[in-house]
Amino acid sequence: MQKAPSEEAVRKLAEGYRGFAGLPPLAGLDSIDRAMTKGLTIRESVQRLKRVRWAMKRLHGIFTSRIAAMPIYELKMAFSLHAYYCAEHVAAIAERVREMRQPPYGLEASPEPILDVFFDEIQAAPSTAALVLGLYREAVPAVLRALQRFLSETNRLFDHPSYRLCRLASLEMREIEEYGQQAIKCLVVDEDREALSGWLDTLGRILSSAGDLDGTSDSNETGFERMFSAAAYRYDGVPKRDRRFKDPYNMGVNAEKLLFDPDVEPLPKSIMLYFKRMREIDVPEVISSILSENTGRSWEYYRDMTRQLWDEARHAMMGEVGFVSLGIDWSDVPLNFTWSLELNTKLDPQERHAVLFTIEQGLMPKKNGKEYEWQVALGTADRLTALIQDYDWADEVLHARIGRQWLVPEFGSQAEAQAFGDEAWSRATADWAAWRDKGLTEHRNWWPDVYRSACRHWGIEPEPELLAYNATYENTRADLKRVSG
Ligand SMILES: [Fe+2]
Ligand SMILES: [Fe+2]
Repeated sequence: MQKAPSEEAVRKLAEGYRGFAGLPPLAGLDSIDRAMTKGLTIRESVQRLKRVRWAMKRLHGIFTSRIAAMPIYELKMAFSLHAYYCAEHVAAIAERVREMRQPPYGLEASPEPILDVFFDEIQAAPSTAALVLGLYREAVPAVLRALQRFLSETNRLFDHPSYRLCRLASLEMREIEEYGQQAIKCLVVDEDREALSGWLDTLGRILSSAGDLDGTSDSNETGFERMFSAAAYRYDGVPKRDRRFKDPYNMGVNAEKLLFDPDVEPLPKSIMLYFKRMREIDVPEVISSILSENTGRSWEYYRDMTRQLWDEARHAMMGEVGFVSLGIDWSDVPLNFTWSLELNTKLDPQERHAVLFTIEQGLMPKKNGKEYEWQVALGTADRLTALIQDYDWADEVLHARIGRQWLVPEFGSQAEAQAFGDEAWSRATADWAAWRDKGLTEHRNWWPDVYRSACRHWGIEPEPELLAYNATYENTRADLKRVSG
C-alpha cells in the first residue's frame, strides 16, 4: 500500500477545505482529514467482521443453551434478550460480508480456532457465577473492544455500511455489558472470584493467544490448557426455576375456562391474562431447547426463532408487570413449568416445534384466540391490560407465520404439521394425576386468594360465584381440548 501523507500536510489541506456556506462536508459523517487518513482495506475489514460475527454467533449459542436450566428468572429473560441481539447482528454482518468481494465467505467455519476454545470454556461454565463472569466480564467486553477498534479505524465514508452496522451493534453490546456488570454485582461474591481467578486468567491468556478477539494485537503465546471445556459440553434442557417458583407442578387452576366463560365480567379475567402471560416463561425454555438441539440450520432460521424466543420472554415479563400493577406478589401464584418440562424431556426438537406451532396457530381464530383476549382486555377498561394484549396479539401473528415458514415445509402441509403437533402435545401432557400421586404438587386452587387480593386492589367485593371457581387441567389442555392419556 502507498504511504500516507504527513499529518502536517493533511491538516493544511483539510483546513483550507470548506463545504458550501460552511455546511459539513461528507454528509456530516466524518472530518475531511480523517477521511483522508483512516481506513482498513476490504480484506482487513472482512477479517475483523468475520471474527466479531463468529464471536456473536458463539455468544448466541451460549445464551440460548443456558436459558432452560438457568433457575434465576431474571437471567433467563436477560439471556433471551442478549441472544436476540446477537442473532440480529450475526445476520446483519453476514449480509455485509457477502457484499465485500472476498469469497469464499466461509461464514460457517470458525475464523480462528483459538476463539472457539475461549467460547467453549464459557459455554461449559459450571456455575452461575462462572457463567456471568465469563460472559459479562470477559466475552462481551472483548466483542465491544473489537467493535470500538473497528469504528475508530475503518473509514466511515468508504466502509460506511460496516461502520453503521458496528455502531448499532456496539450500542446493544454496551447495553448487554451494562446489564452484565449489574448481574456480576448481584450474583458473584468474593469467594467466587477467588475460586475462579485461575480460570479467568486462563480466559485472558486464550484471548491474547488469539491476538485479542479481532486478531489485531500481537499474538501472545503464553500457552493455556482447557479447564471447564476439557470434557465435551453436554446440553441440559431440563427447565429449572428459582425459589420464588414454589409449586411448579401445580396445574390446579384452568385459566382458559374462566377466560372464555361469557358469564364472567372482563375485569377478573385480567388476573388470568397476567397469569397466562407470565406463565410463558416456559416458551423460551422450549424454544431455546429447539435451537440448542437443532443444529445445522440456516442462520435465518435461528434468527427468526430467536426473535420468537425473545418475544415470549417479553410476554412473560408483560405478565410480571401486570401482577405488580395489581399489587400481587407473583410468587404467590404457582407458575408451572410442566409444559416445558414435558416437552423438553419427552419430545424431540421437531415435535416440540410442532406443538408450539399447533398452539400458536390455534390462537389465530377470532372467537377464542388472541383477538378475543384483546377484546377482554379492552373490556377491563384498564389501559395496561389492553396494551399488553395488543402487543401480544401482534407478536403471535408473527409467530404463526414463523411456524408456517420453517416448520410446515417439513411436513408438506399446515394440516399435517398441526395434526402432528396436536398428537405430540396430548402425548406429552398426560401426567396431571401422576404428579399429585408422587407428591410433587397438590394442584392447590390458588385462585380464590389471588382473586380476593386483586379485589382489594380494585376496591370491590369479590363475587361469591367467582370465589368458588374451581376448574383444573386434569383432563383439559390449555386449548380446552381433552388430554388423551
Ligand atoms: Fe407468547
Ligand atoms: Fe408465540
